[in-house]
Amino acid sequence: MSGTLVRMAGPTVVAEGLSGAGLNEVVRVGEERLLGEIIRIEGDRATIQVYEETAGLALGEPVEASGEPLAVELGPGLLGSVFDGVQRPLAELAAREGDFLGRGASLPALDRTRAWEFEPAVAPGDRVEAGVRLGVARAAGAPDHPVVVPPGVAGRVAEVRAGARRVEEPAVLLEGGAPLALLERWPVRRPRPARRRLPPDVPFLTGQRVLDCFFPVSAGGTAVVPGGFGTGKTVLEQSLAKWAAADVVVYVGCGERGNEMSEVLDEFPRLEDPRTGGPLLARTVMIVNTSNMPVAAREASIYTGCAIAEYFRDMGRSVALMIDSTSRWAEALREISARLEEMPGEEGYPTYLASRLARFYERAGRVETLGGAEGAVTMVGAVSPPGGDLSEPVTQCSLRATGALWALSADLAHRRHYPAVDWSVSFTLEGDRLAGWFEREAGDGFGALRDEARKLLQRERELAEVAELVGTESLQDAERLVLESARLLREGFLRQSALDPADATCPPAKAFEMLRLFLEWHRRAGAAVGAGVPLRSILDTGLGARLLRLAQLPAAEVPGAAAALRADLSEALARLEAE
Ligand SMILES: Nc1ncnc2c1ncn2[C@@H]1O[C@H](COP(=O)(O)OP(=O)(O)OP(=O)(O)O)[C@@H](O)[C@H]1O
Ligand SMILES: [Mg+2]
Repeated sequence: MSGTLVRMAGPTVVAEGLSGAGLNEVVRVGEERLLGEIIRIEGDRATIQVYEETAGLALGEPVEASGEPLAVELGPGLLGSVFDGVQRPLAELAAREGDFLGRGASLPALDRTRAWEFEPAVAPGDRVEAGVRLGVARAAGAPDHPVVVPPGVAGRVAEVRAGARRVEEPAVLLEGGAPLALLERWPVRRPRPARRRLPPDVPFLTGQRVLDCFFPVSAGGTAVVPGGFGTGKTVLEQSLAKWAAADVVVYVGCGERGNEMSEVLDEFPRLEDPRTGGPLLARTVMIVNTSNMPVAAREASIYTGCAIAEYFRDMGRSVALMIDSTSRWAEALREISARLEEMPGEEGYPTYLASRLARFYERAGRVETLGGAEGAVTMVGAVSPPGGDLSEPVTQCSLRATGALWALSADLAHRRHYPAVDWSVSFTLEGDRLAGWFEREAGDGFGALRDEARKLLQRERELAEVAELVGTESLQDAERLVLESARLLREGFLRQSALDPADATCPPAKAFEMLRLFLEWHRRAGAAVGAGVPLRSILDTGLGARLLRLAQLPAAEVPGAAAALRADLSEALARLEAE
């Protein structure tokens, strides 16, 4: 079906003569066949957001509807790829078009020329349905890629074509059905189906002590990471990509500043995967919106990323979907809404911002896949609130849609306390569901220790206010001990160096052992102070400094070091009490 361009306002254009076309249908705009999507239909007038530069487009040019919604290509070759918001391969585009993207440059997402060795797991006569594994696709230098029957497809296998296949070539033929290739397509805005949701009682371990111990989320859970300019959102997302318990990472970079995304493009491929020693990119799919791409592509990018994440989930993988940052996505939504002349809501964002975010985060989850495996998509969305003000709409709408708030504080970042997660405002809604897991796997009494630690930090805050008024000298030794113990806890436990090889990630057992010792120190020093030992003498033992060094020990050495420290603490306190 073909229509005509009748109106243009930047990347939003209007075409007439498309009465049969549907909402979210993909169209090709103008002689150059620019990629676009229908975002509003009124009679035979369709409003279209164009994903490419529209300069030079003229009224009267043809607009052609495709009959298909905006979709991604899913298949072998995704891992290690870098795409733009509508899944065009950036490296190939750059090679072909020079350094910036040519228009109508519709290169397929997955390489059409590369041959994969298809090793079938089914034979003619087998009945297969959605989720059943058809076989594996292999190629040198790429991880084995399971080939699974897509959602909505079932039938009896008529023919199997083992051996060298390109992604579009039929690999399995079903009786009376369409041939199944290594590649499938999926509309990005539609959640992929699963058999059922699984309860959120397994943590998504991040390797960051402050998150895992104080504000854990489940595998399949969601967290929002608001942080003002330069508070460490990107570094945190990269640490999670490296260390979190995820088989596959989908990283959506939504930057605005021109150099921000080129930094990411530059840095990310150089990150090393601590599990393999190879590049982290080998288990990552990157979606990157560079600044010379129109806003509409940025709006689509989080859905593109999500559909790819769900595809790997459906193979039984644990997937981490990171978005940096959702504020840039929301700004794109605001811009499109303004062009549609919709009634603006708070701060100009459309009134449906909250429901869009909620529907998006709902696509996270741990599921039993159609094939009966267990898979998960965990989402971590950074937010860049202007001025770090958490009351702004994107933060607030995200908060209502997610299970945890990991708020980054400019004050902590300024003091170089990283990760700058503010323990006084962050929270998780999943703590109770996950408590059982931590008691079982990390250590008995984990929950009680965590509560004790949080009380200590709370007490520190109260005392700091008092001290500010009356001066530290007027505090009692017992109160000064609270300040000292809380300082040790902040600097030796909550703080974690992304650069120290032993400290960059922390397994729960190490965190538990550390936390236990920090609090033991506080309790026993408190008892000694109560028995009349001057705090000064306890601090002079130098044991506090040894506590601070625990973080830098490899996990395996921590129990031994903790036992030695514990023994020395007993001895020192006994000596001081005897004096
Ligand atoms: N965990 C960390 N360990 C050490 N340094 C860190 C850590 N996190 C952040 N930093 C320091 O803070 C700087 C800014 O961090 P980052 O780029 O992640 O901030 P951001 O919140 O993403 O900023 P923007 O708002 O510009 O996107 C880093 O370049 C680094 O020097
Ligand atoms: Mg950043």
